[in-house]
Amino acid sequence: MATAMAKTTTTTMRASSLLLVIVLLLVLQLNSVLSWKKDEFRNCNQTPFCKRARSRKPGSCSLVATDVAIDDGDLIAKLVSKEADKGHGEGEEQQQEEEKEPVKPLIFKLSVFQNGILRVKIDEDPSLDPPKKRFEVPEVVLPEFENKKLWLQRVSTEVINGDSGPSSIVYLSDDHDAVLRHDPFEVYVRRKGGDRVVSMNSHGLFDFEQLRKKKEGEDWEERFRSHTDTRPYGPQSISFDVSFYGAGFVYGIPEHATSLALKPTRGPGIDHSEPYRLFNLDVFEYLHDSPFGLYGSIPFMISHGKAHGTSGFFWLNAAEMQIDVMGSGWDAESGISLPSSQSRIDTFWMSEAGIVDAFFFVGPGPKDVMKQYAIVTGTSALPQQFATAYHQCRWNYRDEEDVAHVDSKFDEHDIPYDVLWLDIEHTDGKKYFTWDRVLFPNPEEMQNKLAAKGRRMVTIVDPHIKRDESFHLHKEATKKGYYVKDATGNDFDGWCWPGSSSYPDTLNPEIRSWWAEKFSFQNYVGSTPSLYIWNDMNEPSVFNGPEVTMPRDAVHYGGVEHRELHNAYGYYFHMASADGLLKRGDGKDRPFVLSRAFFPGSQRYGAIWTGDNSADWDHLRVSVPMILTLGLTGISFSGADVGGFFGNLEPELLVRWYQLGAFYPFFRGHAHHDTKRREPWLFGERNTELIREAIHVRYMFLPYFYTLFREANTSGVPVMRPLWMEFPSDEATFSNDEAFMVGNSIFVQGIYTEHARHASVYLPAGQSWYDLRTGVAYKGGVTHKLEVSEESIPAFQKAGTIVPRKDRFRRSSTQMVKDPYTLVIALNSSKAAEGELYIDDGKSFEFEKGDYIHRRFLFSDGKLVSSNASPPASSNTPFSSDCFIERIVLLGLSLGAKSAIIEPANHRVDIELGPLNLRRGQMPSFPTIRKPNVRIADDWTIKIL
Ligand SMILES: *[C@@H]1O[C@H](CO)[C@@H](O)[C@H](O)[C@H]1NC(C)=O
Ligand SMILES: *[C@@H]1O[C@H](CO)[C@@H](O)[C@H](O)[C@H]1NC(C)=O
Repeated sequence: MATAMAKTTTTTMRASSLLLVIVLLLVLQLNSVLSWKKDEFRNCNQTPFCKRARSRKPGSCSLVATDVAIDDGDLIAKLVSKEADKGHGEGEEQQQEEEKEPVKPLIFKLSVFQNGILRVKIDEDPSLDPPKKRFEVPEVVLPEFENKKLWLQRVSTEVINGDSGPSSIVYLSDDHDAVLRHDPFEVYVRRKGGDRVVSMNSHGLFDFEQLRKKKEGEDWEERFRSHTDTRPYGPQSISFDVSFYGAGFVYGIPEHATSLALKPTRGPGIDHSEPYRLFNLDVFEYLHDSPFGLYGSIPFMISHGKAHGTSGFFWLNAAEMQIDVMGSGWDAESGISLPSSQSRIDTFWMSEAGIVDAFFFVGPGPKDVMKQYAIVTGTSALPQQFATAYHQCRWNYRDEEDVAHVDSKFDEHDIPYDVLWLDIEHTDGKKYFTWDRVLFPNPEEMQNKLAAKGRRMVTIVDPHIKRDESFHLHKEATKKGYYVKDATGNDFDGWCWPGSSSYPDTLNPEIRSWWAEKFSFQNYVGSTPSLYIWNDMNEPSVFNGPEVTMPRDAVHYGGVEHRELHNAYGYYFHMASADGLLKRGDGKDRPFVLSRAFFPGSQRYGAIWTGDNSADWDHLRVSVPMILTLGLTGISFSGADVGGFFGNLEPELLVRWYQLGAFYPFFRGHAHHDTKRREPWLFGERNTELIREAIHVRYMFLPYFYTLFREANTSGVPVMRPLWMEFPSDEATFSNDEAFMVGNSIFVQGIYTEHARHASVYLPAGQSWYDLRTGVAYKGGVTHKLEVSEESIPAFQKAGTIVPRKDRFRRSSTQMVKDPYTLVIALNSSKAAEGELYIDDGKSFEFEKGDYIHRRFLFSDGKLVSSNASPPASSNTPFSSDCFIERIVLLGLSLGAKSAIIEPANHRVDIELGPLNLRRGQMPSFPTIRKPNVRIADDWTIKIL
């Protein structure tokens, strides 16, 4: 079978040479790559803490809150076991209790922050000498978050309707209270009117396994396949239920290759019963519809419903997590009824270790929740302009000649691109920061040639360091004791691309600084200021480790077990790499580092891609919910490999992928080294033309994208948005993940099937929509059956918006800096529209001092007004631009208008008919102001006469 053979080869190429034979045998024996992959990873039943947690019954939590008080501006309490409190009970339950350890009180702390953010921490009592301090994830919550604390003064105690005992109530916002019910313990947010928003432990599933001494004869070891986890501290998992009220759907908790709206994983009639797993793993050829964990983890869930809007729940915890979404009726037999008639979604969260450090976000709108989450974990870094353009990657561009060839072909075919990437083969024996000097004898010169055309290069730097005595990095790391240790205290030694490898312990700030130093031009020989970085394999991937990663009993800085911080390892590595680029040279340029692994806060350090996808239609389709989910959980700058990493594809799929990828926030073509070459010009003239056109679309919209990246940078609202974020009361959009919005103005729907002639496209209600290609208007709130050509995918501009473009095509975005702008004004039914444009130098941090231009365009009453959208710049070297506007296209304006007057210049211009898109040889059909010759940076008004 041709396909089976192809898969076998790709799979083995990804594995180490040591495993090659075993893998090959396994694959052949099972005769199915699929089952092999699945067996490599644990399911919930093979994961003891998950199995234990899932078997518990609602109402089994016996904790009650006592000693409730205000202390230091927080509400604090003790959580004690009711059984322990009561002394000796009776009957069978009592017997079971006696076998258990006495439950020590837990410390509960509730804090309130500005913008309606509630934080709840639950941990063991340090004064009771637990065997070990449990891990609290450092450097994720922004340091300035603490300054937003509202110091609680007062707590009121009340018996709330239907409860048998008291609750403590504190102020959360003008519209919300935070409530701690004492018995049984429960914590929730409610609106002032009484409706609940988000709650914890309403079903009594809370459980906290406290660290304790090992009993005689007790076996704490866990085995999976050939691996043994020594588990020196024994069981330490935490689990609890969280309910979202007024919710139609829940979203978030990446990374999974699955739908945007999360499907129930437990309850009546649900047969595939794995919970959503959050455990950073290097999964070969992942499935396109599965709750299995992939490369990154963000334990942040968002709920949305029509009547009550949006809320969120975030658990800051870096251990393996498993999350169930309960189907309706799951608790039918529990006897627990919640005091609410609203629609509700219940979820169940389980983590192997750590503490409870949970944040509740009250919304009420989708963008409010985005902002609230960003207040805790930060907004996205503003990328350099070049990074928002097209990237060309392959495993591998062989040598300098290959690089020069690919680069020149882009020019020959008039296809713009900004960045050429080098994968692992460019190094000397997979030793990062080195070059294979046979293939790349003059790396500086190679980079400088690209830089002369305004292009950049990216090289890969992974966390596995080759254990080679002649490698200076290895020698240094060994000597300084900078590697993660194994359970016996030796440097952990695992198998990865270079063979035997060790991993820098980037949890330690000192080791991160050391790592960052390696990016200096002096240390990274052959690097130049136009070189940027790619972090792959930072889950971390360990080919011979359990589940292809590091053993959980490996030990980090401060005695932290790998199990406690696993999901954040790649985050700290990414952080150190970004810091390295920041510090090298004069430290003026914004870093660019792409990472595969991620964690909450990764948005501050760079871009994320969805890892090793496959060249098939299903992976094209699932890329949309995957990127949307990343955006919802704070990571705006993300994309999927265009073309799919594994496997070869038909030109039609490649073209469709470019057409969709042009709207991904991060837009990169990439392919596995076993695939046929797939640079855009290799599929015949027609396909080259189609791909060129798709990439041109991206370059045309770069000013709009950059404006959106700045919006994400200031507000936390992602660049690529689920439809419901823009249309929160249009229920038809809530589970739609075939289409998405880029900002608030552009709607895009992919084509996910072969030979498509038609597509059903639901355009959200409330506005009409202008086809991005033809300018034809369509009604909103309707599913249109549209004809589809090979030339583009369905994409529309919303009526009532103004989109800035640059329509002259150059070799790279750098060469477009001085080009004039086009404004496309799409009028709504009140003949009005508005939009924004953000511009800065595209590379430095000067914008943080106010060195930028931020314009607001408003069209109403037949007048277009350009005004300053930002407070006056505090900078004494304000950023300026001499760029002009060369064209203004007015969609939806009656054809009668003949001229316009520009003020203050008092200069009259004609309105002619022009095409919407210059390069597409279209009919001139839209009222167009050509050469208004107004500067983008100035205040002006254009009146239609
Ligand atoms: C925006 O991006 C810059 C550069 O990446 C970063 O330093 C800053 O913290 C970000 N956030 C805000 C609110 O400017
Ligand atoms: C049209 O757009 C303007 C400007 O954004 C807005 O103020 C107005 O409410 C919109 N009208 C309709 C009917 O949507």
